[in-house]
Amino acid sequence: MNVTEATDFPPSLLEIALFYAEAGVDEVIGEQPVDRTQAPPAREPAREPTRAAASPAAGSPAQALAGATPNPPRTPLPHPATASANPALLSASEVEGAARRAARACQTIPELEAAIKAFEGCGLKATATNTVIARGNPQAPLMIIGEAPGRDEDAQGLPFVGESGQLLDRMLKAIGRDEQNTYISNILFWRPPGNRDPSTEEILACKPFIERLIELARPKVIACAGKHAAATLLGTTQGITRTRGRWHEYQRDEIAIPAMPLLHPAYLLRQPGVKREAWHDMLELAAKLEQLGV
Ligand code: URA
Repeated sequence: MNVTEATDFPPSLLEIALFYAEAGVDEVIGEQPVDRTQAPPAREPAREPTRAAASPAAGSPAQALAGATPNPPRTPLPHPATASANPALLSASEVEGAARRAARACQTIPELEAAIKAFEGCGLKATATNTVIARGNPQAPLMIIGEAPGRDEDAQGLPFVGESGQLLDRMLKAIGRDEQNTYISNILFWRPPGNRDPSTEEILACKPFIERLIELARPKVIACAGKHAAATLLGTTQGITRTRGRWHEYQRDEIAIPAMPLLHPAYLLRQPGVKREAWHDMLELAAKLEQLGV
C-alpha cells in the first residue's frame, strides 16, 4: 500500500508506520516524542537526573562526561538544555579533551572498555542500544578497525557481526585468520542512527579511546576498513579507492604500526565487482604478517 493512495482520514497506524518507513525512520528510540528544538517550560516537573549529572565524577561539564554507568535502559532523554554535561553544549575539543583524559587513565583494556561505556561525550550513545567496542583476541598481531556499529552490531554489542562482518570473517579466513589471531574494533562505539555517516564531532569524541585501545593492544599490523577509519587513524585525505592497497603507517607518540586501508566489506557487498582489489589487499596483509613472523 502506498501512503499517498490513502483516502480515508485520519490515517491508520499502518499508514503512519509505512510513511515513517518510506521516510527512512527505522527505529523507535522513546515512548514519547521530544521536540528538541524547543526550550523546556520555565517550571518543569522534577526529571530523572541526566546520566552525566548523576555521575559520581560530575564536576565541570567536561569532567562529568567521563563517568557514568554503562548504557542504562533507554528512558526518555531530558531536554538538551537541561543536561549539565550535554556534549552539544561543549566544544568538540573540550569533549575530545575529556575523552583523552579518561582514556589515558586506563592501564588495561577492561578498564578502557569500562571508561568507554561510562563516557557521555558522544551524542550517538543516546540512541544506541549497546556500546560496541571489540571482538577477537586483544593480543592478536592483526587489528581490523572499521567505522561504526550497524543495526546488528548495536543489537548484539559486538563489532562486525552483521552481513558485512560475515563477509569480513570470510575474507580473514581466506588468509588463515579468525577471532583467535585477529582483533576487531571500530572508530566509533555507538551506532549512528540509520547508519548515517558519523559527524566530525562524533569521530573526535571517540578517537582518543580507539587510539588508547591500539596503544594497549599493540597489534603488529592494522587494517582500516573504509574511508572514515583510514582518514581518522592514518590521516588519509583521498577516497578509499585511491588509498586502499598501499601501506601507510599508524603513528602516535612512540608507536608506529604498518597500516593498510581496505575497501569496507559493506562496499564490497554493494559492489561485488571490486572483490578482486579486496583480495589483492588481503594478500598484502597476509604477506606483511608473514614477513613479520606473526
Ligand atoms: N560496519 C562497520 O564499520 N563496523 C561494524 O562493526 C559493522 C559494520
